[in-house]
Amino acid sequence: MAGIADNRVMSERTIPIIDHRYASSVPRIPEVPPAVGAPAHDLLGRKLHDLRISITDRCNFRCTYCMPKEIFDKHYEFLRHSELLSFEEIARVARTFVALGVKKLRLTGGEPLLRRGVEDLVAMLAAIRTPGGDPIELTMTTNGVLLARKAEALRRAGLQRITVSLDALDDATFRRMNDADFPVQAVLDGIRAAQEAGLNPVKVNMVVQRGVNDGEIVPMIDHFRGSGAVLRFIEFMDVGNTNGWRMDQVLPSTDVIAAIARHYPLRPRSATTRGETAERWVLDDGSLELGTISSVTRAFCRDCNRARLSMEGKLYLCLFASHGHDLRTLLRGESGVKPVSDGELSAAIAQVWRERGDRYSELRGSAAAPPASRRVEMSYIGG
Ligand code: GTP
Ligand code: 5AD
Ligand code: SF4
Ligand code: SF4
Repeated sequence: MAGIADNRVMSERTIPIIDHRYASSVPRIPEVPPAVGAPAHDLLGRKLHDLRISITDRCNFRCTYCMPKEIFDKHYEFLRHSELLSFEEIARVARTFVALGVKKLRLTGGEPLLRRGVEDLVAMLAAIRTPGGDPIELTMTTNGVLLARKAEALRRAGLQRITVSLDALDDATFRRMNDADFPVQAVLDGIRAAQEAGLNPVKVNMVVQRGVNDGEIVPMIDHFRGSGAVLRFIEFMDVGNTNGWRMDQVLPSTDVIAAIARHYPLRPRSATTRGETAERWVLDDGSLELGTISSVTRAFCRDCNRARLSMEGKLYLCLFASHGHDLRTLLRGESGVKPVSDGELSAAIAQVWRERGDRYSELRGSAAAPPASRRVEMSYIGG
């Protein structure tokens, strides 16, 4: 079967849609569709498992490492509502992915709780079943500020778990990092509300930047011991091209673990599930599970089973990609393309995944790594 044209190798059958943000191409619908129900493996043998759905490009924070204020200011053009996929369109794409083998859906942003009616979308996604009739895992990544108000409704709508970003316990450090003057307490209230609503285990993600918040590692542990939350330390990544990333600001996970070990004895936890981002640890007294996410110093591309759908319907195969495959054009029938049937949508997605060879973190720094210049931003594609 002829390979689908992707954005790097354009054939005359690919319709390039260039927007002011990131180049994209419309996936070609294969003439011979793959067998229905056949699991999709990519060029490196990685099986599709996880779909991350970004539902807004807006955020109420301006984290210095993600949406620096100087760029994401009042002149920055966020997408208009009509450009976003509707909830029905998102659910249709999600159902198609689940039929192709996806077992986990994660809602992200920007800040996903800013999208009006997000609970309704959660309810639509929670109703999706795998081909074997099982429920799917449904979770969300949020900055937590609106969570105290929303946790109960999200749980009732069918959200199972939640991950909250929190980079410091010290209020001044936290305000400096979110750069929008939000207090730590608002996030802590959100975490508490999520736990009380049953969105457990709540995972707390801390991006560690050397010289910025590395002094907060131990205070975060002191705070979350015995809380039932899981605390994860993420290496600062060179995602996007606006955050001024420098290698000397990356605190390797081995240093994070060494810093913790000076205060609390800890041990690694049994091998992580294939494809998981985090290596797991536990304090010796069992009071806290920890995770380290080491995309820079210990790439985990080999098992990367994650696809990403942007709020405007572009399918990205890697967090560091600069090109997306435009599914919205197929769904809506835009730009002279006829709207596709469910079978055609499935065939097009499966084909895009089969052609995937992305492994940016493994290639970082080598001549084979894609250029940084047009890399998608984290606030656009989600964590
Ligand atoms: P859980 O099932 O809750 O453990 O999910 P997860 O670890 O897959 O997801 P989460 O969204 O909590 O990811 C944590 C962080 O890891 C993100 O915020 C990113 O910083 C990073 N991350 C997630 N996926 C990838 C990936 O595919 N590549 C890289 N390089 N980093 C990733
Ligand atoms: N490096 C690592 N993690 C990042 N995130 C955002 N930008 C970066 C970066 N440059 C994480 C946030 C949040 C999630 C949405 O993505 O901490 O947990
Ligand atoms: Fe910060 Fe997350 Fe918002 Fe980015 S999307 S600015 S990391 S809260
Ligand atoms: Fe997956 Fe790309 Fe991250 Fe590697 S760098 S783990 S391929 S998203």
